[in-house]
Amino acid sequence: MDISPEQAIALLKKGEVVSLPTETVYGLAACIDQHKAISKIFTLKGRPQDNPLIIHISSLDQLDVFHPILPPTFDALTSAFWPGLLTIVLPIDPSTVAPMIRADLPTVAFRMPAHPLTRQIITETGPLVMPSANLSGKPSATTRAHVEADFGQSLPVLDGGACEAGIESTIAIYRDNGWQIIREGALALERISEVVVVKFREDTFKEQPICPGQKYRHYAPRTKLTPTVSIPEDYDGAIVGYSDRTYPSQAKMFLLGKSTDEHELGTNLYAVLRSLDESKVNEAVVDLDLPATGLFHTLRERLLKASSAN
Ligand code: TXA
Ligand code: MG
Repeated sequence: MDISPEQAIALLKKGEVVSLPTETVYGLAACIDQHKAISKIFTLKGRPQDNPLIIHISSLDQLDVFHPILPPTFDALTSAFWPGLLTIVLPIDPSTVAPMIRADLPTVAFRMPAHPLTRQIITETGPLVMPSANLSGKPSATTRAHVEADFGQSLPVLDGGACEAGIESTIAIYRDNGWQIIREGALALERISEVVVVKFREDTFKEQPICPGQKYRHYAPRTKLTPTVSIPEDYDGAIVGYSDRTYPSQAKMFLLGKSTDEHELGTNLYAVLRSLDESKVNEAVVDLDLPATGLFHTLRERLLKASSAN
């Protein structure tokens, strides 16, 4: 159901769940003091209770009520990337955030999205929890139609157009005296490195990742995906590939965009993964011959995760 920004504000204040656009992906939003709505988000998504939610703010002042411990160089990071594509995990006073939001952790992930409609809404409603607006484990939603495909027409959705980045925010935490990336995302590691010293946390994908969501199945269509860097000439199945490459002429193509344009690939990623299911393709190979730098690194990680889930 299409709603206006004013309706979104009123519904959120009344304790309803609404879907809002951000420049990364669409989110399922609720006010942080509306516990019924927050619990409805977990039910709607089929999300495990031990996977905490990001709190979205529209100004730095909104952080104060949580009494966060701000690490050194926090200001450098936020001046460079807030509002925008970066989520930062901070230790907070646990009495200020319901355990359900933070999955009982003593920390909370904060993001200040740049999308003008959603920022304006948060200014009116106060901080909002907002996981990605997709069924747990499935590709994220980057258009209103994707949100409605997962949750039906009755869910109120504020249509903000197709998401510009198309990939979730990058999540950073300050630990062991340094910044670590605990979820790759729409902000490339190289860009963060221009501002602070940062590294990937190597065990992100192992048993007990710091980012709880990383241990779950993710981004996966029903279609069984197989990553490859070489496709036989006589292959006649489905291929997830690039518009500037030549593939076997009998193959059924699902194009992500130009292999040299990391932004175009990011914008199209989830729409293409979703279109595999819409086309009822059982299996596809994924051309994974991409550079390992910048956003390409994130894209490879998402495509590999979407593949390994089957
Ligand atoms: O771009 C985004 O970040 C989108 C838009 C809507 O803002 N949101 C999003 O939320 O991707 P979600 O819930 O799909 O993913 C949030 C991730 C999960 O993997 C969760 O485990 C992690 O953030 N997370 C949340 N709180 C955390 C915390 N305190 N410590 C570590 N990881 C945390
Ligand atoms: Mg998600």
